[in-house]
Amino acid sequence: MRDLRKLSEWQALQSHYHEIESLQMRDMFAQDKNRFDTFSASACGILLDYSKNRITSETFDLLLALARKIDITKEAKRMFAGERINATEDRSVLHTALRMPDSKSLLVDGEDVVKQVHAVARHAAQFVDKVRDGVWTGYTGKRIESVVNIGIGGSDLGPLMVCEALKPWQHEDLEFHFVSNVDGSHISEALAKINAETTLFIVASKTFTTQETLANAQTARQWFLDSGADNSAIAKHFVAVSTNEKAVSEFGIDTDNMFRFWDWVGGRYSLWSSIGLSIRLCIGNDNFDAMLHGAHEMDEHFVQTEYQHNLPVVLALLGVWYGNFFNARSYVIAPYDQYLHRFPAYLQQLDMESNGKSVQMDGSAVDYKTGAVLWGEPGTNGQHAFFQLIHQGTDLIPADFITAAKSQNPVGAHHKMLLANCIAQTEALMKGKTLSEVQAELRAGGSTNEETDALAPHKVFSGNRPTNTLLCEEITPRVLGALIALYEHKVFVQGKIWGLNSYDQWGVELGKQLAATVLQELNSGAPGAHDSSTSNLMSYCIDRFSKAT
Ligand code: F6P
Repeated sequence: MRDLRKLSEWQALQSHYHEIESLQMRDMFAQDKNRFDTFSASACGILLDYSKNRITSETFDLLLALARKIDITKEAKRMFAGERINATEDRSVLHTALRMPDSKSLLVDGEDVVKQVHAVARHAAQFVDKVRDGVWTGYTGKRIESVVNIGIGGSDLGPLMVCEALKPWQHEDLEFHFVSNVDGSHISEALAKINAETTLFIVASKTFTTQETLANAQTARQWFLDSGADNSAIAKHFVAVSTNEKAVSEFGIDTDNMFRFWDWVGGRYSLWSSIGLSIRLCIGNDNFDAMLHGAHEMDEHFVQTEYQHNLPVVLALLGVWYGNFFNARSYVIAPYDQYLHRFPAYLQQLDMESNGKSVQMDGSAVDYKTGAVLWGEPGTNGQHAFFQLIHQGTDLIPADFITAAKSQNPVGAHHKMLLANCIAQTEALMKGKTLSEVQAELRAGGSTNEETDALAPHKVFSGNRPTNTLLCEEITPRVLGALIALYEHKVFVQGKIWGLNSYDQWGVELGKQLAATVLQELNSGAPGAHDSSTSNLMSYCIDRFSKAT
């Protein structure tokens, strides 16, 4: 067992924290005109400004020393080489192989996985071209107009987020629906908008055992048959993306219409694989390839770049700095880009399912905080909702601001207003407003001394609230690929520092198991032996079921 808190590098950070805790960023900026140059880095079309953080050069050196101690690059190379770093599932973790160019090769257990990846990608690309060109038609000969991706978790959030983020690249004759929730309202709303003759359903599930996805897929199939199609038409309208050929076939989807991937692709890391079929259909193969290219560039940056200029390493270290030393328990993602509105939700799964753990690789309990609660909404909307708490609340909540200098929709003055808000928020969070500044402002506005004394404390901003800004020229497929890979590697680095297995997700299992029992009992109308809360909730529902019928 590695005792993180006993490492001299960790202890040095702990003592240093007490020394710099009260330093004000506004003073550090005033004293060092080059602070931005010192604490910013660029790679793969992304500028990371991390100068608005509560760090000095010494802090940064101490954080880098921790990264060196953990030997992040060595660990990353083990992952990239296909070592079975997901020990609890005895699997390699090779989402990086999904974006390697076909000129490369990577032998894992004697197989060249890059060749496999490109063979499957070609299969997907051919299918995608046929659908987008109208060559693949529905059973009545009409071209496909609607695509419904049925999946959940990683089989939904990544594809949905990217299709939204890259909407300007969307095929103009195709519309997309994503159905994930087992709540029948989700599939019903989608089915109400589509025509069976012109719809393609993608059933996306790595395991093909996920209850929600199978229930939605069954409902979609029944709706399709009820619309007048017969079983032979299913092959034209239902395709599967999975690692489980047997279950796909048992479900009734022809395995010729199945796009494969591998158990070494984690669900939340799978958008680069066949799980990205809906993305390919939406933005086309060339743009999908550009996204893969951007991600591959970030992979190379991650393993080749020294830590102080390494974007994933820097972001990860800053997250550890606030989470473990300032005791920050949540972290905000604020994309100032409406098309990135699902990016926080996507990152929630990526980060919280990966690092929401409390045992180390060897099973020993950690005695330090691990993954933070991650949340967010696009700016400027968030400013009119929860930013109040980030500015004046009692918690320290670090935030990443993500934006692009160029808009996909340059209407009037909108984009400059968006950028002005994004940049100004980071300035406000950093600088704050002191009591004397507030008092001077109030007096200048004509307030009496009494009015000033009453109001001033409410208008003080403590400031010193940390932010990173990730700025790019334009959110293109390539830049988006790099941005996603940047956060994937940030999660990796933090997982390594905390000694976690970031690639399993046992924490989702108990609820699934208990739901099976509860469902059985709801069906039978008789709650079994449970605590009084669970039994009474079930009885309430059973009572209402009988009244409804
Ligand atoms: O329940 C969690 C989870 O296993 C995620 O990790 C995964 O992305 C999601 O369910 C969906 O799984 P599948 O693609 O196998 O349906």
